[in-house]
Amino acid sequence: MALVLQEVRTNSYPRIDGIDRATGRARYGADWKVPDMLYARIIQSSIPHGIVRSIDKSKATNGIIGIITCLEDETVWTAGEREHPRRVFTDHVRFVGDCIGAVAATSRKAAQQGAESVEVVYDELPSVFDLDQALKPDSPKIWDSGNVIGPLSYGFGNSAESFSKADLVIERDYVTSRVHNAPLEPGVSLAWWDDNVEKLTVVAATQGISSCREGLAADLGLKLENVRVICLYKGGGFGNKNNSMNYDIIAALLARKARRPVIVEYSREQDFTGVHGRWSSKQHLRAAVRGTKVLGVDLKGYCDIGAYTRAIKQSKFLNGAEDYYSCDSWSAEVNGVYTNTPTTAHMRAPTGPQACFASETFMDEIANELGVDPVEFRLKNAIAKFHGTEEFLSNSLKECLEIGAEKFGWRKRWANPGSSRRSNHSEKLIGVGTAMATWHSFVGKGEALIKLKQNGTLEVYVGVVDIGTGAKTTMAAIAADALGVPLESVRLISGDTETCPFSIGESGSRTTSYTGTAVRAAALKIREKIISLASDYFNLGQAEFDVRDGLVCQRHDEKIPVPLYRFLENVGVDELVESQVTEPSLPVGKHRYSFAAHFAEVEVDSETGVIKVTGYLACHESGQIVNRLTAESQVQGAVVMGMGMALSEKVLIDPNYGAMQNPSFLNYRLPNHIMIPKIEVEFVESTDPFGPKSLGEIPIVPVPAAIGNAVFNATGTRLRELPFMPERMLLLMDSSQ
Ligand code: MOS
Repeated sequence: MALVLQEVRTNSYPRIDGIDRATGRARYGADWKVPDMLYARIIQSSIPHGIVRSIDKSKATNGIIGIITCLEDETVWTAGEREHPRRVFTDHVRFVGDCIGAVAATSRKAAQQGAESVEVVYDELPSVFDLDQALKPDSPKIWDSGNVIGPLSYGFGNSAESFSKADLVIERDYVTSRVHNAPLEPGVSLAWWDDNVEKLTVVAATQGISSCREGLAADLGLKLENVRVICLYKGGGFGNKNNSMNYDIIAALLARKARRPVIVEYSREQDFTGVHGRWSSKQHLRAAVRGTKVLGVDLKGYCDIGAYTRAIKQSKFLNGAEDYYSCDSWSAEVNGVYTNTPTTAHMRAPTGPQACFASETFMDEIANELGVDPVEFRLKNAIAKFHGTEEFLSNSLKECLEIGAEKFGWRKRWANPGSSRRSNHSEKLIGVGTAMATWHSFVGKGEALIKLKQNGTLEVYVGVVDIGTGAKTTMAAIAADALGVPLESVRLISGDTETCPFSIGESGSRTTSYTGTAVRAAALKIREKIISLASDYFNLGQAEFDVRDGLVCQRHDEKIPVPLYRFLENVGVDELVESQVTEPSLPVGKHRYSFAAHFAEVEVDSETGVIKVTGYLACHESGQIVNRLTAESQVQGAVVMGMGMALSEKVLIDPNYGAMQNPSFLNYRLPNHIMIPKIEVEFVESTDPFGPKSLGEIPIVPVPAAIGNAVFNATGTRLRELPFMPERMLLLMDSSQ
């Protein structure tokens, strides 16, 4: 029997590190100071494509302690590109900003000047910045093997059969733009070696200390036990600080060369250009419809993945939407296309919002074509069995649609497109839209070490970092709940591979399920020990005892409860220690997913084309919710991020040089408070046999589609390209009048 989180209770706990984060006491990577530390800056390519012929370092002298370039170092950054070997310092540059070398100096200023004074001579190669151009047979080749990963085919069922039965065939094209993870904390890494240069310590801004450690050990040829990775606080990541980063390796290489600690600090601009964003897509969808049932969908997709992709091929660049509908067939053929532009890879639900924007806008178009209410249409077509035949462990997609629609007041608010209500201001058009999504929810390996001290403190050791998700609080809450102590008596020790056991890392919406399962199991073992000690001490059966609110209670005797610390003192126990490794696996043929339905209300200004989201409700089923407060903020944060993707965010690429044109928070338009309405969150709770399901990623998935569908409902104008910029909105509204 697998140890699972099934019994966990829902509660609302404020973040245990909230005050430290808000007051500046929290120690992020860039806050570290160690004696003799040097500052490093990277040398970046100024051209989009070429071979480095020579490097003149002679002008980099003032305060410079060490320089490493591609001409002397061939270390490979395995996590930097999945299809080809990518070097940390490359002599074949593939985009403006590619890393050629790095400089360590006694001050930031000296490092900056040093990096700028290094002169690089290139043999320039022809370059390509546009997806369609890169697909042409005579296009410049970014890799010897060509520019295309694919076609990657996936799906199920028999497409030809679906289309032969159809009474309506409909096809459309959709475009999603490149966006950026843009976490608040830019890339930073501090490294030092012990005196014998055998053991490496890296203070990394990482989403996962274990995966960062594994990557560093592999790429630097070190034993795992000789690499220590520390990350006490992390300011966001959203998928772009997974595994080991190149700046982690750069800090280690420079520190080894200089024999002093080295910190690499990325500027905001470098964090935009040197760390990846989300790939763009062009998608063609074709559906076979019979009555109000979608029988099958064919999808052809092309994604601009930049010069390197850190994405894993299993994602197929656009998967996800094939798991929303109860179709008989889904037939997808997707290509990832390299261009001489910055790297792309995972961002919160890596393929999700791209795939959902196309498919859920498409479904809205089909519903409109058929004259069916969009919620009704989705209820008819929502997935019931996985790929038509196999079971879900739990499936609440329809409940999400029904409960969400009810709470949002869909039936009152929705009117036929074109008949949209006008608000008091006559130029404002109002409409509502919906979109749904599903997202995989894995189970896997977790580890936890728990010590109950005699003074009643519960020390919980976990390898999590908490990139902003609230994971530290969730882990502490699971331990407190399982043992029966108040949250305040938990001391969470995390973010250091030397003291903490393995954790999966905060990616793939996995921490609560993977590591939380182990935390609960270890805490339950401590609880059993206490009850056994109590049974011996009082000479009564174990069933007589319970641990509640930090007290050892006897069910039938008022003389006890005894506080835990007193009890441990009485029985003469200094500390109780338990560790646990859990590794559940899904039963064969069973599928585990999370579900969501979102509802948006928009107000479109017909004079300016500006779209304002005026209402939003996100209804989710992610199994048991451990901490309602942080779960709600995960959903709200992701919805805000999705609003950015829908309304304002776009990585602008220089058409002549391929460089990112807007690598700053001034010009890369993240959503701000003025754009954001109240975001209501509803949870449909279900009892999944493995407990809490994925939640960190799914709430961004339906957002752009829900907003676009609301805009159609308001204006009768269909938006098929992200983001929805006002000038384009105006143009489309004018042409449809
Ligand atoms: Mo994530 S995009 O799985 O870090």
